[in-house]
Amino acid sequence: MEWILNKLRKKDESDNIDIDMSNIPQHIAIIMDGNGRWAKRRNLPRTMGHRAGVETIREIVKTCSKLGVKYLTLYAFSTENWKRPKEEVNALMNLLVEYLRGEVDELNKNNVIINWIGDISKLPSMCQAELIRAKEITKNNTGLMLNLALNYGGRDEIKRGIVNIVKDVKEGKLNINDINEELISSYLDTSKMPDPDLLIRPSGELRISNFLLWQIAYAELWFSDVLWPDFTSKHLIQAIKDYQMRDRRFGGIK
Ligand code: FPP
Repeated sequence: MEWILNKLRKKDESDNIDIDMSNIPQHIAIIMDGNGRWAKRRNLPRTMGHRAGVETIREIVKTCSKLGVKYLTLYAFSTENWKRPKEEVNALMNLLVEYLRGEVDELNKNNVIINWIGDISKLPSMCQAELIRAKEITKNNTGLMLNLALNYGGRDEIKRGIVNIVKDVKEGKLNINDINEELISSYLDTSKMPDPDLLIRPSGELRISNFLLWQIAYAELWFSDVLWPDFTSKHLIQAIKDYQMRDRRFGGIK
């Protein structure tokens, strides 16, 4: 029995060691799911689950920075999340403000760039102001870009992109023959970043939920039963190691 435990412990210790630092995904996207269930299991209000989820964000941002990940996109509030009770929506907005106010200096020290995707014009003005402030403070950094997906939906993003393409065609700024995949990508919120290499969804759900629909065409998908507040760097490292074992062919052959 003892030797099995030792073996498991050894495996744990080696978790950080056998990661291939030359093959770290450039862009990791995460659907932060399971906060509500985490809270329910503890007889806590759902908002406490979201608060615990923010602790996970802190840890995962730090680890991504250390590993040299260039882009981390976190699904924080979807275009569909407005359907939740008003109190929960308000709590999420307040958590966002609290997070940005409390964390921006530390993130700045760690060379992190704060950015967002999604239509933030629908968020409370306090959230918009804190986002703009955080982006401004961190704009000259060169490390990890932390992208918060806020009032984000893949379909909404594509719709907004199409509207802008049509506008530019109508105004003569764009020729219809110039519309190709690259051009469409340049009209999306993620225009200045590469597509995600790895998409992580904890909490046991096996769906994409309207996240980065255009961009995940060739992303490697990684699912886990762990709820987001219980997700740690160890799970992230496991996801990266599994990613490193995948054979990415992008539709071609070896
Ligand atoms: C999904 O879990 C989670 C969300 C809809 C919100 C995620 C938000 C945070 C982690 C914190 C706020 C963000 C920032 C950037 C400060 P769920 O509530 O759907 O969980 P359930 O499926 O178990 O009910």
